[in-house]
Amino acid sequence: MDNVQTVAHDVRSPGRTWWKEGIVYQIYPRSFMDSNGDGVGDLAGIASKADYLASLGVDIVWLNPVYRSPNKDNGYDISDYEEVMEEFGTMADLDRLVAALHGRGIRVLMDLVVNHSSDAHPWFVESRSSKDSPKRDWYIWKPGKESGAPNNWKACFTGSAWELDPATGEHYLHLFDPGQPDLNWENPELRRAVYAMMRRWFERGIDGFRMDVVTLFSKDPSYRDLRPGEGMFSPSAPYICGPRLHEFLREMRKEALDGFDAMMVGEAPGATVESALELVGEDRGELDMLFQFELMGIDHVEGDKWRQKPIDLVEMKRVVERWQLGLAGRAWNSNYLMNHDQPRSVSRFGDDGRFRTESAKALLLFNLSLAGTPYIYQGEELGMANAPFASIADCRDVDTLNYHKEALAAGLGEAEAMRSIRYMSRDNARTPMQWSGEANAGFSTGRPWIGVNPDHRRINAEAEEADPDSVLHFTRSMTRFRRERKVLVYGSFELLARADPRLFAFLREGEGERLLVEINFSGEPTAAAALPGDWTILISNLGPSGGPRPAVLAPWGARISAPA
Ligand code: GLC
Ligand code: CA
Repeated sequence: MDNVQTVAHDVRSPGRTWWKEGIVYQIYPRSFMDSNGDGVGDLAGIASKADYLASLGVDIVWLNPVYRSPNKDNGYDISDYEEVMEEFGTMADLDRLVAALHGRGIRVLMDLVVNHSSDAHPWFVESRSSKDSPKRDWYIWKPGKESGAPNNWKACFTGSAWELDPATGEHYLHLFDPGQPDLNWENPELRRAVYAMMRRWFERGIDGFRMDVVTLFSKDPSYRDLRPGEGMFSPSAPYICGPRLHEFLREMRKEALDGFDAMMVGEAPGATVESALELVGEDRGELDMLFQFELMGIDHVEGDKWRQKPIDLVEMKRVVERWQLGLAGRAWNSNYLMNHDQPRSVSRFGDDGRFRTESAKALLLFNLSLAGTPYIYQGEELGMANAPFASIADCRDVDTLNYHKEALAAGLGEAEAMRSIRYMSRDNARTPMQWSGEANAGFSTGRPWIGVNPDHRRINAEAEEADPDSVLHFTRSMTRFRRERKVLVYGSFELLARADPRLFAFLREGEGERLLVEINFSGEPTAAAALPGDWTILISNLGPSGGPRPAVLAPWGARISAPA
C-alpha cells in the first residue's frame, strides 16, 4: 500500500507539511462501528464509514490502538505489536481500511504504546521467568525495601507503581495498571526492537504514530521518591522528561523514521511550554508535535481529575495564549478539546443543555481557528454529550472502576462519586458513536460493550445529515473554511480582551489575510471585541455570514470576520 501523494495545495517551504495543514479525526475503534454484531467496533466497521470520514473534510485519521491486547486498558496493553486484536479483525482488514482511507486522500496514524507493554507480551513473560532471562533487562525490576516497594511512586490507575512478582521476589514498575509493565528504554536491544517494528509499520503504509505517554520513557536513574506535593504528572516528577528522553527520541527519528514521510505526535503528560520546545522544536529532530495537558487540567483541583472546579475562562485564555505564543515560529501546537481520555467537550467546555448545538459549533470553530493542528474526536462533529451513567455498573474504564472503589473505601458517598464520574470519566468519550436514532444508535446489531447514550434518539448522524443547521453540517463548513485559509494554519496569534470573563477573541494574521475570531463562552449575550474598522462576518455558528459584525454576540455565538 502506498503512502498518500504529497498534498496538492500550497506547500511552499520545508516548514510547510501535510501534518501542519491537515485536520485530524480521532477514532476509538471499539466504539466507532461494529460490522459483525458482536457489540464491539471493528476495522471493517470503520472502513464502511470511509465515505463519511471523507465527507467531514478531515485529512488524517488517528486510530486508537488496534494491536493484540488482553484489554485491561482497552488496547493500551499490547501483547503483540504486529498483530491486530482479534475482536477488531485481521491484518488484511487493517490493510483494507488503510487503503480505503488513502484512496480518499486521508492519511493514517496509529497509536504506539511503548512506554509499557502488556504483561501478556512474550517479552514480559520471558522477563519475569528468571533473573537471568535475556529479556530481564527489557523491563524495570528492582528489589523491594524493608518497607515494601522500591520507592513511593504511584500508578496512574491507583495503588503503588510497583508489583511484587513471586517468581523472583523482585518488583516490576508499572506506571499504569499492573497489566502494563514499563519497558526499560535504557536497554539498547529493546530500543532496536521497537524501531524495527516501527519501520515495518511504515513499510506497510502507515503515515505516522501518536506516541503514548512519550514523556515517561526515560526514568531518573536515582529512582528517588516523589516529594511531598509532587503529583504523578508534575513536570519535576523523576520519570517526566527524564535525562535520556531527548537522546531516545532523536535516535528513534533516525532509526525508525528515516526515509519515510511520516510524523510523530507525542502524548506528553507533564510537558510545559519550556520542555515542549525541547521535544518538538523545529530544529530538534525529535517529535513533530505533542499533546499538552495544561488545558485538560483546567478544572482539576490540585491536579486531581476526580476533584473538579468550574472552568475559569480567563485562566483558559492564559493557558491557550501561553502555548500559542510559546511555540509560535519555533515548534508546532496540537489543539484538542477532548479525546478518549477526556469527557465530552460540549459537556465540559460548552453547554450540553439549552445551548448544546450552538456551543458544540462554537467549540469546533474555536478549535479549528487556533494555530497548530486541530484534532476532532469521534462524535464531536455531532455535538455528542456526556453519558448519564446511573451507577458504576454502567462503566467499563479501569481508571473509573478503580476510582469508584477507592473513593468509596475512603468514605466518599456513592452519589458524590457518581457525580464526579459523570463529569470526568473516560467512559463519557467511549460510549458508541451515534449513527442513528435506532436501537444501539445504529452502532451494532448486538449488545454494545458499553451502553449507548440514550440521547442518541435526538443526537445522531442520520438526523444531523437531514438538518442543515446541525453541528455536523457546521463541522463540514468549518473544515472547508480552514482548508481554504492558510492564515489559520500559518498565521500569527494575538489574544484580545484578555480579562473578559465571557468573550474569547483573537486575531490571526498572515498569508495576506487578517481574521478576527470571536467566541462567546457563555449563555448570556456579550459585547463583541472592541476593534476599529468595519468587519464582515465570513462564518458564524448562528445567523448568516456576509454581513457586518454586530456589537453583541448571542449566547454561545461564535464567528470569524475579516476587514470589510
Ligand atoms: C495514555 C492513553 C490512555 C492510557 C494510558 C496508558 O494516556 O491515552 O488511554 O490509559 O496512556 O497507556
Ligand atoms: Ca465487531
